[in-house]
Amino acid sequence: MRTLGCFLLLLFWVSQPQKSYTTPLPERTTPSAERTAEDPESGQGNEMERSRSKRSWMWNQFFLLEEYTGSDYQYVGKLHSDQDGGDGSLKYILSGDGAGDVFIINENTGDIQATKRLDREEKSSYVLRAQAVNKKTGRPVEPESEFVIKIHDINDNEPKFTKNVYTATVPEMSEVGTFVVQVSANDADDPTYGNSAKVVYSILQGQPYFSVESETGVIKTALSKMDRENKEQYQVVIQAKDMGGQMGGLSGTTTVNINLSDVNDNPPRFPQSTYQFRAPESSPVGSTIGRIKANDADEGVNAETEYKIIDGDEHNMFEIITDKETQEGVVIVKKLMDFERTRMYNLKVEAANVYDDPRFQYLGPFKDVATVKIIVEDVDEPPLFSKSAYVLEVKEDAKINTIIGTVTAQDPDAARSFVKYSVDRHTDMDRIFNIDSGNGSIFTSKPLDRESLLWHNITVIATEISNPKESSRVPVFIKVLDVNDNAPEFAMLYEIFVCENAKAEQIIHTVSAIDKDDSYSGLHFSYAVANPAVHGTNFTLRDNRDNTASIYTQRNGYSRHEMNTYLLPVVISDYGFPIQSSTGTLTIRVCACDHKGNMQSCTAEALSHPTGLSTGALIAILLCIIILLGHSRAVCCSKTTEKERAIACV
Ligand SMILES: *[C@@H]1O[C@H](CO)[C@@H](O)[C@H](O)[C@H]1NC(C)=O
Ligand SMILES: *[C@@H]1O[C@H](CO)[C@@H](O)[C@H](O)[C@H]1NC(C)=O
Ligand SMILES: *[C@@H]1O[C@H](CO)[C@@H](O)[C@H](O)[C@H]1NC(C)=O
Ligand SMILES: *[C@@H]1O[C@H](CO)[C@@H](O)[C@H](O)[C@H]1NC(C)=O
Repeated sequence: MRTLGCFLLLLFWVSQPQKSYTTPLPERTTPSAERTAEDPESGQGNEMERSRSKRSWMWNQFFLLEEYTGSDYQYVGKLHSDQDGGDGSLKYILSGDGAGDVFIINENTGDIQATKRLDREEKSSYVLRAQAVNKKTGRPVEPESEFVIKIHDINDNEPKFTKNVYTATVPEMSEVGTFVVQVSANDADDPTYGNSAKVVYSILQGQPYFSVESETGVIKTALSKMDRENKEQYQVVIQAKDMGGQMGGLSGTTTVNINLSDVNDNPPRFPQSTYQFRAPESSPVGSTIGRIKANDADEGVNAETEYKIIDGDEHNMFEIITDKETQEGVVIVKKLMDFERTRMYNLKVEAANVYDDPRFQYLGPFKDVATVKIIVEDVDEPPLFSKSAYVLEVKEDAKINTIIGTVTAQDPDAARSFVKYSVDRHTDMDRIFNIDSGNGSIFTSKPLDRESLLWHNITVIATEISNPKESSRVPVFIKVLDVNDNAPEFAMLYEIFVCENAKAEQIIHTVSAIDKDDSYSGLHFSYAVANPAVHGTNFTLRDNRDNTASIYTQRNGYSRHEMNTYLLPVVISDYGFPIQSSTGTLTIRVCACDHKGNMQSCTAEALSHPTGLSTGALIAILLCIIILLGHSRAVCCSKTTEKERAIACV
């Protein structure tokens, strides 16, 4: 209070800012300021008492209402020094914020006036200094003193929302009171003074679906069972009003766009109970027969539907998959259909939501069933052979026009069209086979020989008579079977001799045989001397049962002079059917040998017999031998067994 001893700041106080709207400010401030100036510390005014209790009282402050609209200067207050005797010797000087510009002072009286309309929201207080100076001496009579002019708020700002438009989403079917979004508005007026900045929210549009909490701006649902499928978007208008929402307060509004988000509260439902599709029996595996759709009013995952066949497909002929784009069930062929076997299928198909929401099960069931009828259509199919390939056998000695075997093919269609057969001539260039076009019997038309061609692999074609375009082909493997048409014979021409000094029961040679025919049990032949009673007296033959036979001496004492050549006819038989046999004659010469059995010399005459040469040839050979004997008898003997060589000698 001591600092204020020098200056008495003349204050005015307006405790009811509302009144300032209705009452011109200068008229009120001037008398009020004068009143307080006369008795500044008395606190006699009731208004002042109320104000004190409301706000901290500051003696070095002036208060001034913002937004003064009068044509005169607005009176602020009066400076007064207790050194001022009222004789006009002092003058008052003002300095600081806006001195001489916004605020002017009457230097004689100390009256301060505001020259401009002031905005609290622009500058809420001004700091100024006052001085009292002796006019004559120009010396201050008091130390300079500082004071503040505070601009008093009036409600000149409406609440402003932080956004022009809010957006929010809340699930459909939410319970009443579910939080949606919070809106908020700011008021630029002084929040510490009056209700100018006290904002209250209310809903102008959007009832009865939504409500707003007046204090907080929180928007909540106000109606239960709001259904997205019924109405999805709402536009809510919220008002914020200051002055605590009372009449005369300023207001601002905002729009809140609220979307309901989907929940699974709708089950899938087939719009019809039966669907019917037609499909040709030739529909390939994996092809689509038809599409069905169970409608679901929900969206996104809540509309996702899975289809399955629950009955009528015992043979697993079909499958149903979900088209993820359209949520349709696509019926697909899993196994080839056959019109001749089944002409219609009746499938029971179930559609069920993939994601169920347990909260809404009471709105279910969340699945549905429909019947899908598939009518199989007949397709003209080519004839079908009874086998995929035929293997036939024919004996090589089969007569021409013998039936080898029969192929059969049928039209699988219900029409059972007649079929005709033919041989693909590209596979039977030599026209060895023929087929009966009516019954599929295959004939030989030329003689066969297994030894020249074992397999005849041909193709037979079956064609529908009524529709030549429908034809099928089948391979026919014809194997020519062996017939035992060849007799076994000696494997070679044997040169056999017996030593004059040979003993009885001695092996002099071993022979074997061959056969051109197919031998089933390996090369097996039997050997026997023809007419053994006659021919078996000098030599015997033993079958070794390994396809060889050995020739034995029957006695000793063979002599060139007595008999220089023996002939041994041998019967060789195979075990085929019928048995084939031949007789080969072995020629055994009698030769002189050393004691080890090595041949020394033989009789020339023996050479003629096995080769069966003509008389002329024999004479030539004999001449040859005579000539050769002069040089080397042994060489000549060993070499002249060959016919050509013998002739060459001539
Ligand atoms: C509300 O729905 C509309 C139309 O479907 C859409 O354009 C908008 O983005 C949605 N708003 C929100 C917040 O999801
Ligand atoms: C097929 O017909 C021919 C006469 O053309 C006959 O000889 C043959 O036995 C028949 N085949 C069958 C399997 O009936
Ligand atoms: C014919 O068929 C038989 C049996 O399949 C086979 O062994 C043979 O090699 C074939 N012949 C020809 C010439 O294709
Ligand atoms: C067996 O040998 C004797 C004496 O050498 C002879 O007379 C007879 O004709 C021979 N028999 C045959 C079948 O060659």
